[in-house]
Amino acid sequence: MEHTMIIVTGATGQLGRQVVERLLTRVPADRVGVSVRDPEKAKAFADRGVRVRQGSFTDPAGLAHAFEGATQVLIVSVDKMGEEAVRQHRAAIDGAVAAGARRILYTSHMGAAASSHFEPCRDHAATEEALRASGVPFTSLRNGFYATSAMQFLGGALQSGQIVLPADGPVSWTAHADLAEAAAAVLADEGRFDGPTPPLTAGQALTFDDIARVATEATGRTFTRSTATDDGFRQQLVGHGVPAETANQLLGVFAAGRAGEFATVDPTLAALLGREPITLGTVLREQLSENGGR
Ligand SMILES: NC(=O)c1ccc[n+]([C@@H]2O[C@H](COP(=O)([O-])OP(=O)(O)OC[C@H]3O[C@@H](n4cnc5c(N)ncnc54)[C@H](OP(=O)(O)O)[C@@H]3O)[C@@H](O)[C@H]2O)c1
Repeated sequence: MEHTMIIVTGATGQLGRQVVERLLTRVPADRVGVSVRDPEKAKAFADRGVRVRQGSFTDPAGLAHAFEGATQVLIVSVDKMGEEAVRQHRAAIDGAVAAGARRILYTSHMGAAASSHFEPCRDHAATEEALRASGVPFTSLRNGFYATSAMQFLGGALQSGQIVLPADGPVSWTAHADLAEAAAAVLADEGRFDGPTPPLTAGQALTFDDIARVATEATGRTFTRSTATDDGFRQQLVGHGVPAETANQLLGVFAAGRAGEFATVDPTLAALLGREPITLGTVLREQLSENGGR
């Protein structure tokens, strides 16, 4: 059998951890490695025969060891925004090229575009440019918007029933578990997608009006949705200690949503999974039961 080595970064994060879990159902453990900032947090993978090496995108020299022998590297995008994020992603791409990887995969976002209203989508577009410029074949997994992000926006509304958010647009909220399964399927079937994938989304695009209705049906309690002004929402966030820059970035989600940037529903994720993706309603019901909110 041809020798392959798939390296996954961010494997101690929510998405990367699940990607490795799903990958281990398809690929022998000795063909999987993780590059993580804190190897102690990846001990459970090491115990299962996965190669665990320390690597951070802020230490480009150290990536040579972390990515050594890689045939594919999955770069999980970092939890930063703007130039800092793109700089770190470039360091990871350079590290994968230097290691001789023959394909680089990257967790991008649906709607990645230089003109996006949402800063991370502009960062993803810049990273995709860097991937193109690398000269190495790449696959950019254009992940749908995390359903967990919708839960974060709902926040205390899950208890109060009052959803007060800026005007929005439909978003095809998608579960981490499905995106992880899809990433593992693409890694295990090298070259199945080349360049940016179609948007990897769940089967429905919902507004917060729709989510209020779904929550009402799920709980039998009444959920109402009312509209905050963008300025009012910004002030409220800043009043709760959110830095102004972060507040503006969060408002970008709503501006991009209103512009329809996250409205696409695409069948590619379902095809990769061989089943319908998890719905926002399912994620919401899980969250409500964790909160004891039924
Ligand atoms: N599609 C969407 O809707 C959406 C929404 C939010 C975010 N995202 C993007 O998707 C990514 C993965 O999501 P997630 O839920 O798994 O987030 P997460 O749990 O915050 O995981 C982020 C991962 O990136 C790693 N990381 C951060 N800085 C790094 C660096 N300098 N070098 C190497 N690794 C670094 C973290 O390492 P540690 O474990 O050591 O902290 C962590 O494992 C996020 O980071 C973000 O870029 C997408």
